[in-house]
Amino acid sequence: MKNTRQACIVGTGMFVPPKVVTNSDLERIMDTSDDWIRQRSGIEKRHVVENGVSTSDLAYEASVRALQDANCSARDIDLIILATLSPDHQFPGSSALLQQKLGLETTPSMDIRCQCSGFIYSLNVAKLFVESGQYNKVLVVGAEAHSPILDFTTRGRDVAVLFGDGAGAVIISSNIGDSPSKIESIALHSQGQYADRLWLERPGTAREKWITASDIEEGRCFPFMEGRYVFKHAVERLREVVLEVLEKDNLDIEHVDHFLFHQANLRINEKVAELLKIPSQKVHSNIQKYGNCSAASIPILLHESLKDGKIKKGDRVVAAAFGAGFTWAAASFIY
Ligand SMILES: CC(C)(COP(=O)(O)OP(=O)(O)OC[C@H]1O[C@@H](n2cnc3c(N)ncnc32)[C@H](O)[C@@H]1OP(=O)(O)O)[C@@H](O)C(=O)NCCC(=O)NCCS
Repeated sequence: MKNTRQACIVGTGMFVPPKVVTNSDLERIMDTSDDWIRQRSGIEKRHVVENGVSTSDLAYEASVRALQDANCSARDIDLIILATLSPDHQFPGSSALLQQKLGLETTPSMDIRCQCSGFIYSLNVAKLFVESGQYNKVLVVGAEAHSPILDFTTRGRDVAVLFGDGAGAVIISSNIGDSPSKIESIALHSQGQYADRLWLERPGTAREKWITASDIEEGRCFPFMEGRYVFKHAVERLREVVLEVLEKDNLDIEHVDHFLFHQANLRINEKVAELLKIPSQKVHSNIQKYGNCSAASIPILLHESLKDGKIKKGDRVVAAAFGAGFTWAAASFIY
């Protein structure tokens, strides 16, 4: 029997902190170059938080804008889902802090910890809650304050130059009237065997001590990435997962109007587009301005593509992401 409730995106919002750090600014604090960063990743600059501005602060700003766009208030929200790899604290989840900042009293909130794939995982959870009838309106946010956990010295340059801070939010609700909007198929995957190829090892419970002085001295409290290994996996998994969602919806590449790939590296997305024969005008990018915003990348890109008039009502969009875990995911929707 066909599900009568169909989840769709009814509003979007984004926020990046005002402070901008260019590649040239990084040249002054570590052994790197604008050329190296641009050629390897496409990134020209990124936004970073001031001291004391946290992930839930960025999430709040993006949420307020998405609520306004959806023409509703925080009180209309039945559930908050926040995807992040850079939470304010180990616990409680940043979604609870966001809930409090939105002035809500007992609205349920949950964190999703699937790194760069976290927004698409969250979209799937929101879709199921809305389509089951348990909730009418769900706020889904991807938010990251990466800069406080990066090593901005030459030791950490291979990772630090790639990331930026920001948040993107969407409101998910059930479709009403004759609007074509709907979230269709979603595909989710993970493969923990590669956890240590891209991770932030410490602090954590996997060792005898939560954190030690040598963990700090030797940099285990900063993210580690085997860049080339991650690159190769990302290209292959993104290619596969795009085909997987298209197959679920019985569609081909040419039926899709827009592709929103996770913004980790311009070269990864160009390679995926080449392998799938996707015309370049259908692949949107903003990594040049923001760097890799992990769980926030796709909702920020969605919001900008809508506001720039690239994505229009009724267009079909495929979003796909790959990140630590490894995790990877794709979602197909009509806006
Ligand atoms: C990280 C990445 C840009 C590096 O590009 P690469 O071409 O693989 O470069 P390498 O890591 O092989 O490093 C090449 C050289 O540049 C150096 N280098 C690393 N970071 C540098 C920096 N910021 N500035 C200047 N040089 C740098 C390395 O030390 C190395 O030097 P060597 O040849 O003397 O040993 C690329 O591997 C990548 O994008 N990986 C995937 C990232 C990703 O998708 N992450 C997903 C997370 S969501």
